Amino acid sequence: MLREIKNVLDPGELRAIHAELGRAQWQRGGDSAGAQAAAVKNNEQLAHESEAMRAIRQIVLQAFDRHPVFFSATLPKRVFPPRVNRYSGATNAFGAHVDNAIRFAPDSGLRIRTDISCTLFLNQPEDYEGGELLIRDGFRDHAIKLAAGDAIVYTGSTVHEVLPVTGGVRLACFFWIESMVRDATARQLLFDLDTTIMRLRAAHGDDESSIALTGTYHNLLRMWAEA
Ligand code: NI
Repeated sequence: MLREIKNVLDPGELRAIHAELGRAQWQRGGDSAGAQAAAVKNNEQLAHESEAMRAIRQIVLQAFDRHPVFFSATLPKRVFPPRVNRYSGATNAFGAHVDNAIRFAPDSGLRIRTDISCTLFLNQPEDYEGGELLIRDGFRDHAIKLAAGDAIVYTGSTVHEVLPVTGGVRLACFFWIESMVRDATARQLLFDLDTTIMRLRAAHGDDESSIALTGTYHNLLRMWAEA
């Protein structure tokens, strides 16, 4: 699974986030990675407990909450509190790694299984050189660099890296999602079905067939989801 989620943040939210980033304290990024990942991690992060991080986290979570594609694609059960990272100068890359399967949320201590990883881009691709998020799906590498306010969600089990930023500053928000539907194939099938139902309803309105298919969607979700 590899899916772009467009326009998560509107221009006002991006401005508010950048105002917070202006007063942010940064720290070396090693603390949120596992041992293998920490060895190749060379970036900075916003202090988890900082006021700026709390404010940004609230904006980001509200934005994802109202985004229908994000919900349909990930079927979130638990979300790890989003964090923000910065790549520039000498702290400019994150080598190949797989994210830890289980994360402990810092505040609640809640365990979160990282079914899905999410990166939300906070500044424009023109603002920096390099810095692509490289995701290996087994067949080929996907080099991803999206507009500010757009996000990518991808299967947590993939090897990925952030290529060196050779000029400018790359700012992004990242977090993990434990899905109500653990099986990635089942989740994909539900997403495809939901998307097709939406298209049918847009073309023909609600008729007997779209109502029946909607029922099928919910019955599959009931069968597979752990709420
Ligand atoms: Ni990672």
